[in-house]
Amino acid sequence: MPKAELHCHIEGAAAPDLALSQAAAYKVDVSAHIDREKGYLWKDFSSFLETYDLVASLFRTPEDYALLAETHYLGLARQNCLYAEIFVSPGHAGRIGCSYRTLIAAIAEGMDNALAKTGIEGRMIVTGIRHEGAEAVEDAARLAAKHPHRLVTGFGMAGDERVGHVSQFARAFDIAREGGLQTTCHAGEFGGAGSVEATLEHIGPSRIGHGVRAIENPAAVERLAETGTVLEVCPVSNLVLGVFPSARAHPLRQLQEAGCQVTLNSDDPPHFHTTLENEYRVAAESFGYDEDALLDLTCTAINAAFVDGDTRKRLLEKCVPGAIE
Ligand code: ADE
Ligand code: ZN
Repeated sequence: MPKAELHCHIEGAAAPDLALSQAAAYKVDVSAHIDREKGYLWKDFSSFLETYDLVASLFRTPEDYALLAETHYLGLARQNCLYAEIFVSPGHAGRIGCSYRTLIAAIAEGMDNALAKTGIEGRMIVTGIRHEGAEAVEDAARLAAKHPHRLVTGFGMAGDERVGHVSQFARAFDIAREGGLQTTCHAGEFGGAGSVEATLEHIGPSRIGHGVRAIENPAAVERLAETGTVLEVCPVSNLVLGVFPSARAHPLRQLQEAGCQVTLNSDDPPHFHTTLENEYRVAAESFGYDEDALLDLTCTAINAAFVDGDTRKRLLEKCVPGAIE
C-alpha cells in the first residue's frame, strides 16, 4: 500500500535509542523522561510536551539534525511511504544555538540523502510553538519568509492549543502567506469544535492538524467540508493522548462521511508507539477501511501536499499508475 504523510514533528520522530545516545553524548540526564526499555515516559499532554521539548534539546548540531532527518525518511521509505512532510521548529533549534538557515540546510541534507537512496520525497513545514506566545510564532514565520528554501513550503503552528486565542496568531500566518508559504494549524485536539471554528475564521489554513473535535458541533464539521479544509488526522496519537477513549469513539469515519477530507498521520510516532504503517493498519482493523479506501487516503494526502503541480502529478502517478493522462 503506497502511503503519504502530512503531519509528523521531526523532533518527535527520534527513536528513544537515538535520543538516549544523543543524551549520553551531551551528558544530559534524561532518566525521568526516557527509559531504555519502556521508551518515552509521560502521563498526559502537558508532560508529553515536556518530554518532547527535552528530546528536541538533544539535537544540537547540523550533523545531529541531518542524521535525524535521514533516519526518519529512510524509516518511512521502508514502509512504502512515497512522500512525507515534517514539522520543523526553529524555536527549539534556536535555543541550543543552531541558526535557522543551518537547521534547514542540515535537515535538507538528510532528506536529500534519503531521496537519493530510496526515492522518498519530502517537504518541511516551519512551525511556531503556540505556548511560546505570538511573538515567538511570528519570529518563526519571519525566518521562513525571509530565507526561502526549496524544501520549505509550509508554515504551521503546534504546541498547547489551550494557551491564548488563535486570533493572536493571525499575523504570523499573514507573514508566512506573504512569504509564499502554504499553511496548516493544529486545532481541535485539546481544544473543542470552537477552536476549529475560530481557526477557520482567524487563520483560514488549507489544512488543520487533527481537527477531530470538530465532531462536537455539526456546524464546525459543515464548515470544514464546505471550505475543503484537509484534516491531518493522527488516530493513534488521539487514542494514546486520550482525546478519545476508544477507536469506536474516534470520529475519523464520521468526519469523512460528513464530507470532510481526511488523511492518516503518525504525529510523534515513537512517543505513541506507532508508525505510519501502523496508522494504516489501525484504519483497516479498527475503522474498517478496505484497500481502495486506504489508497484514497494516500491520494488525498498527495492532493493536499505542499508541493508544486509537477511534483504532485509525479507522486499521484507513482501512487496510482495510469491515473493521470
Ligand atoms: N507537538 C508535538 N506533538 C503535538 C501534538 N500532538 N499537539 C500539539 N503540539 C504538538
Ligand atoms: Zn502534531
